[in-house]
Amino acid sequence: ANPSLLILPGDGIGPEVMAEVRKVIDWFGSQGTPFDVSEDLVGGAAYDAHGTPLTDATMAKAQEVDAVLLGAVGGPKYDDLDFSVKPERGLLRLRKEMDLFANLRPAQCFDALADFSSLKKDVVAGLDIMIVRELTSGVYFGEPRGIVTENNERVGINTQRYTESEIERVARSAFELARKRGNKLCSMEKANVMESGILWREVVQRVGDEEYPDVELSHMYADAGAMQLTRWPKQFDVIVTDNLFGDLLSDLAAMLTGSLGMLPSASLGLPMANGRPKAMYEPVHGSAPDIAGQGKANPIACILSFAMALRYSFDMGEAADRVEAAVEKVLADGLRTADLLGEEGRAPVSTSDMGDAIVAALAD
Ligand code: NAI
Ligand code: MG
Repeated sequence: ANPSLLILPGDGIGPEVMAEVRKVIDWFGSQGTPFDVSEDLVGGAAYDAHGTPLTDATMAKAQEVDAVLLGAVGGPKYDDLDFSVKPERGLLRLRKEMDLFANLRPAQCFDALADFSSLKKDVVAGLDIMIVRELTSGVYFGEPRGIVTENNERVGINTQRYTESEIERVARSAFELARKRGNKLCSMEKANVMESGILWREVVQRVGDEEYPDVELSHMYADAGAMQLTRWPKQFDVIVTDNLFGDLLSDLAAMLTGSLGMLPSASLGLPMANGRPKAMYEPVHGSAPDIAGQGKANPIACILSFAMALRYSFDMGEAADRVEAAVEKVLADGLRTADLLGEEGRAPVSTSDMGDAIVAALAD
């Protein structure tokens, strides 16, 4: 059977950038690599049509396919909706019911954009690292939580909590990834001041010793990790860390390389019966209502998210390399959407022209 893909364009610029991904998918189809693609609604678009940000039917379809590709959800039109039907609830339901516990955030610097980074060019040129953030547990979910009153003042409470099995499964995802890349993994926590950090370090070390002795494993305190990421990020290959530290470190690493319009992501769960992990791929950016409907959106983040699907769901590493090389080529040729131009006086290309140029570069 052909690999199956459920496309959920969503709101705002979501459908605009997804239209460019469809061109890339169609190109692969024309070259004898077809995908079974279905498309459905999520977020505000689903609310408008069905009164819910994700129908049960769409949820069921997401559980069946090899991979989900999502654009973005949300927008001012939906800001006053009840919490239970807000667009992001659609996204959260997908993550929760598919149990997507490993969030992969690459920080990759395309040579043509090395000048665009706020860091020195030699620090970022050629950078290609991956942060694996635990996504379904930790302090954002731990109990007890809440705001209570003690001694006549209010106290805000959250609990950092990780079970051994939660640490084990995200560690395995990170080790597997390290094997597909540079065979090097750095685990980050705060074992110096947190019990959960002590357990995290111990469990990651044990998984490494028992199952991945071939992967070079190191440990770093997360605060030192933040410093090292800005000082010399190329010392890392794969980094694995918890939900809170991963939230901060992945945003920090992302900005080493430039624009939100360039950043893909993947969220993976346990392997399915066919051996492929449950998976959802999406750009890091949101629905960008300020530029929606104007042909200004950069489609590269979404196209690179599809490249991640090729690599991590479909074992099509060469096809993924080809997409990334096409992106590198159009950037080297000087093509820029408005978000990549900064103060320069050059004229930006449209969303659709960028997509067409990438497809043309694929064929080269
Ligand atoms: P945003 O990522 O949508 O936009 C932030 C800024 O970056 C804006 O100035 C936007 O124009 C620009 N930008 C974002 N993506 C771009 C692209 N591909 N090309 C060019 N410029 C781009 O974040 P914001 O403004 O905080 O949120 C807008 C809406 O999106 C809200 O409703 C929010 O809830 C939602 N959102 C959804 C996410 C998702 O679906 N995963 C993630 C983040 C926000
Ligand atoms: Mg964040």
